[in-house]
Amino acid sequence: MGFVKVAALKDVPEGSAVHVEMGEAAVAVCNIGGAVYAMDGICPHAAGPLGHGALNGTVLVCPFHGWAFDCVTGESDADDGLKQTTYAVKVENGEVWVDVA
Ligand code: FES
Repeated sequence: MGFVKVAALKDVPEGSAVHVEMGEAAVAVCNIGGAVYAMDGICPHAAGPLGHGALNGTVLVCPFHGWAFDCVTGESDADDGLKQTTYAVKVENGEVWVDVA
């Protein structure tokens, strides 16, 4: 599929995250200090929308039961080896694109 436009950069201000649905999948897009990252937005615990969670530094906390995932690495402290898929991101002309291939 390649890069897909997921949001306007102005809608993902620094220190925030957004949840973007893409068919049955979803992406959590995080703006960390002006750098934008993306990972699988469906929580592996009970399918919570990670992008609706609170972003603390690089860590995005699931709004359902609090499992936490690093938006840069996808890694979680909830369980050893638990890791969300991360995606390449590019920002062009004020738009955020994610490579969900
Ligand atoms: S659904 Fe994310 S912690 Fe339960």
